[in-house]
Amino acid sequence: MIYLDNAATSFQKPKEVETAMVKFLREVGANPGRSGHRLSIEAARILYAARESTAELFNVKDPLRIVFCLNATEAINLALCGILRPNDHVITSSMEHNSVMRPLRRLEQQGVELSIAQCSPEGFLDPENIKKLIKKNTALIVMNHASNVTGSILPVSQVGKIAREHNILFLVDSAQTGGCYPIDINRDFIDLLVFSGHKNLFGPQGTGGLIIGDRVDTKKLSPLKTGGTGSRSEHEVQPDFLPDIYESGTLNTIGLAGLGAGIRFILEQGINTIRAHEMKLTHSLINGLKDIPETIVYGGHDPEKQTGAVSFNINGISPSEISTRLDEEYEIMCRVGLHCSPAAHKTIGTFPDGAVRLSISYFNTPEEISLTIKSISELADKIKNNL
Ligand SMILES: Cc1ncc(COP(=O)(O)O)c(C=O)c1O
Repeated sequence: MIYLDNAATSFQKPKEVETAMVKFLREVGANPGRSGHRLSIEAARILYAARESTAELFNVKDPLRIVFCLNATEAINLALCGILRPNDHVITSSMEHNSVMRPLRRLEQQGVELSIAQCSPEGFLDPENIKKLIKKNTALIVMNHASNVTGSILPVSQVGKIAREHNILFLVDSAQTGGCYPIDINRDFIDLLVFSGHKNLFGPQGTGGLIIGDRVDTKKLSPLKTGGTGSRSEHEVQPDFLPDIYESGTLNTIGLAGLGAGIRFILEQGINTIRAHEMKLTHSLINGLKDIPETIVYGGHDPEKQTGAVSFNINGISPSEISTRLDEEYEIMCRVGLHCSPAAHKTIGTFPDGAVRLSISYFNTPEEISLTIKSISELADKIKNNL
């Protein structure tokens, strides 16, 4: 089997992730920060270690500014719904995932003004297109770091600089880049950074989070939920300090034990090693697909400017049929359709049918990529001959 659906959820994970989760289940198991006994203290220590590793990866000085959530979607909702008020203006790009678009559309119905900066048909953004949309009431710029459809990397630090110059908060959705592309919240002028734990960070599903930069006034970022935190239990109002203000209810501690181990694995391997490996495989994949006469490959065709997500179609056959046949006849796992990103597919011209997406991780090998190309070439031949 060849797994090329890592942009949805990565699989396989480093061995260390499994070890950390099994250890938690067998030896710790308790609720972090709620009780004073040794197991509760150990659970809290594991959680704090995961915060420290996350902070190190994204160059955050204070690990308490990492807020853990269930996934990137919850973190995006926390940031957007927590900051934006009626009559505020927000700018986003035309390559966004619905986890940004849908909360924005809902907020629009509640009186928030929304502008969408057009990206190119290859999925790239000219920072000037953001700058042109800035108004007096612009409160936030939000965009993904890389598209989950074309893998195209958006100019985060240039847009971040523009946001700083205009004193506007900048929210980045790193679901597709966290763990496989270098991110530094200070260098990239990011105020709020969303990460998804179960993709390139190698955590299990049910993990993700929001990093709250120094420029964000937590009095102006309302929590999405309130409740028990294990701290200040004498008060019936929510604590006002990080991360408890945004982390009510028992966290997914076993999942975060796994996420912490996944991030430590990334730190040990080195993000540049991971990026170099993925670029090499992406280069082979794009070129191999382009060499098949019946395929159309989307995006910029330049591995330096994209992640390991590559979308394509084969003339004369629907994307869903390609994906079913890749699974059934070749045991290749991919994702098909609109990838929760109708705006991105409109931008690249593949709406409403969508495309087939192959997405690489650090654990894929050159042999798997060669075999994938050979299989797609064979499938294209079969289709041509009505087989
Ligand atoms: C760009 C982007 N943003 C957000 C998400 C949502 O991530 P999660 O599943 O962690 O909520 C995804 C998931 O595919 C994504 O690709």
